[in-house]
Amino acid sequence: MFPGRRVSSYHTGMVAQPRSRSSAPVLLALLLAACAEEDDGVTFEDDLRPLFEDRCVFCHQPGAPFGPETGAGMDVANPFAEEGLVNAPNIWAGPHPELPGQLVVPGDPEASFVIHKISDPALGYLPETGIAGAFMPYQIPAMTAGEVALVEQWVSEGAQDDSFFRCQVWYWMMPTRALAAECGIRYRPGEPGKCDTCHFAGTHNPPDLADPFGPQGVVGVRAAYRADMLRVEPGSPETSLLVQKLRASAEGNLPSSEYGTPMPRPVLPLSEEQVALVRQWIEEGAKP
Ligand code: HEC
Ligand code: HEC
Repeated sequence: MFPGRRVSSYHTGMVAQPRSRSSAPVLLALLLAACAEEDDGVTFEDDLRPLFEDRCVFCHQPGAPFGPETGAGMDVANPFAEEGLVNAPNIWAGPHPELPGQLVVPGDPEASFVIHKISDPALGYLPETGIAGAFMPYQIPAMTAGEVALVEQWVSEGAQDDSFFRCQVWYWMMPTRALAAECGIRYRPGEPGKCDTCHFAGTHNPPDLADPFGPQGVVGVRAAYRADMLRVEPGSPETSLLVQKLRASAEGNLPSSEYGTPMPRPVLPLSEEQVALVRQWIEEGAKP
């Protein structure tokens, strides 16, 4: 059920022409730019980096939860590095040689497994049996009301570093094998937590939730988005930005000017046009 046939119908069904959709002023700007410099087609730096930075690299770069050193991913931020998207083999092809062996084969989108991973699930490129993992970008599920209630209880009771926090709150935010052992929870390797894909140690997106009581953490730390609030104010859930952001997620709210983006921040799937752009990049030889 991993068909060359379906892939080729995909090939004819979706024609990638992102440039031709430009409006007149954009076209003019492109023409002017072309006078100064010849158009080099779809390149990673110009066309794909912004998209991948927004949707992929917080999971797939060195130090991130599914970076190259984890054995469950690669480096999308530096695609031409040895363990980057363009050079890394497909981990799923090891046990299942019927799958494409490489994530990117310059010039050949059909043979590039990344296209299968990012295409609309309804197209059926990934085997339903799960032998090739999940569709990308992997979605972080919203908060449940029950989870938010646990966080509120923890903050109300003084935001202590106790076993209630570690096992009832921190674990589903930032699951690790060590914490699972401490709490007697069965660890599921590779299953992302609700926060660890973005707020890991050394992240560019504070807070660092690997160290919630540290200087870049949450407890007693002034919020960046709201200078008048703490991320977590012990004893006071209402004035803790963290609680407001989690509530917004559980209630399905849009980003607001009051509290910013709900957390966990939702990861949107790629649109047809965006997938077509990635295809075209590979077709034109996967240029930097
Ligand atoms: C929330 C975290 C997360 C995000 C965001 C994410 N991924 Fe992944 N990715 C994973 C996990 C976990 C795996 C390993 C399990 C799997 O393949 O389903 C993975 C695996 C992959 C693989 C397969 C690697 C291999 O060797 O077979 C590719 C390709 C991939 N991701 C590409 C992307 C791209 C491109 C994006 C952005 C459009 C993206 N991912 C966004 C978590 C994420
Ligand atoms: C997909 C990435 C992503 C996930 C998952 C995510 N965050 Fe965030 N978070 C961000 C980004 C980016 C920012 C900074 C921009 C903003 O505030 O919207 C941020 C900001 C925050 C802030 C505000 C920091 C400040 O001082 O203003 C808090 C608090 C926070 N996140 C908590 C969490 C918690 C708790 C989780 C898990 C339930 C979580 N986030 C999951 C990306 C993420």
